[in-house]
Amino acid sequence: MRAKLAATPSLPTQTDPADKTRLPRPTPRALAELARAGRTIYHLEVGQPQSSAPQAAIKTAQEQVGSDRCGYTAARGEPPLRDALAAMYQSEYSVAVSPGRIHLTPGSSGAFTVAFMAAFDVGDAVAVPASCYPCYRNLLQCYGCEVVTLAVDARYNVTAAELAAGQAARAAAGLSPIKGLILSSPANPTGAMLSPEELKGLCELCDATGVQFVSDEIYHGIVYAGAPRAACALEFSKTVILINSFSKFYSMTGWRLGWLVRRPRPTIWPLQDIRLLRGCCARINHPFTPPAHLHCPPWCNTIAQSLNSIRLPFRPLVCMLYTI
Ligand SMILES: Cc1ncc(COP(=O)(O)O)c(C=O)c1O
Repeated sequence: MRAKLAATPSLPTQTDPADKTRLPRPTPRALAELARAGRTIYHLEVGQPQSSAPQAAIKTAQEQVGSDRCGYTAARGEPPLRDALAAMYQSEYSVAVSPGRIHLTPGSSGAFTVAFMAAFDVGDAVAVPASCYPCYRNLLQCYGCEVVTLAVDARYNVTAAELAAGQAARAAAGLSPIKGLILSSPANPTGAMLSPEELKGLCELCDATGVQFVSDEIYHGIVYAGAPRAACALEFSKTVILINSFSKFYSMTGWRLGWLVRRPRPTIWPLQDIRLLRGCCARINHPFTPPAHLHCPPWCNTIAQSLNSIRLPFRPLVCMLYTI
């Protein structure tokens, strides 16, 4: 890809020339010009569902905006939605989660900002898979953490084996141990998914070795027909910080509404004390009060079908990106 972009002289790029780890990135204006000239541009940088938000959510939001003063929310978000999420974990994954552990956030991005701040200190070594959502790396660097890149296996996953190998390599090099691990399953950008057994093994290793696992489950429900069940880290770990969002499965990217499930008490975890989340999640969070909306947005039966229809052209594209 580097060679192809370099061979297009009229394509301005934004890459810092000092940063040898990054490919040249064309500017948005250059891409718009290419699109106007008839070139097909695949926007892999924005994960945006094609569907709109559930009609029930839109209707309730319209009613609420018209009738409510829409003030600040409770620090952790409004109770009805948190109760509905707790009910969803019980019915979908057979996991009992107290609604008190659930914090509503401005998207999962908002959840990362508080979770990383609460869980890690400057200088902590925090691991991410070699292929992962780039914002993990950027945010950890902002917070002064050392980002440790873990090699992925042949299926683009990080399992307990890759984490153990990463720890062993650091120990051999006399470096501090890995303190945290962030990954998503299903993953962005590869679509790789851990089996329930692999997720269990990873959770058990993290719990046993004091690695704070942050499980990003934003793509749960967006799987090919016939794919194995996407397990939830809460099934296997008492110490995981789980992050999720209404952006993808519920097709509500612009609503900026996500959530975080914190560790159960007793825990020395300052989130609830420092009240970082006071009033900073979206006010319009009643649309999902009936748990049924959480379980089955109107299009969920069609997700697997439409994913299967794009699978054939998409898969070679991903493989190509990872071989150049
Ligand atoms: C793996 C992953 N996590 C989190 C996010 C951020 O989503 P949100 O809209 O909830 O902030 C994205 C967005 O593309 C993502 O791919």
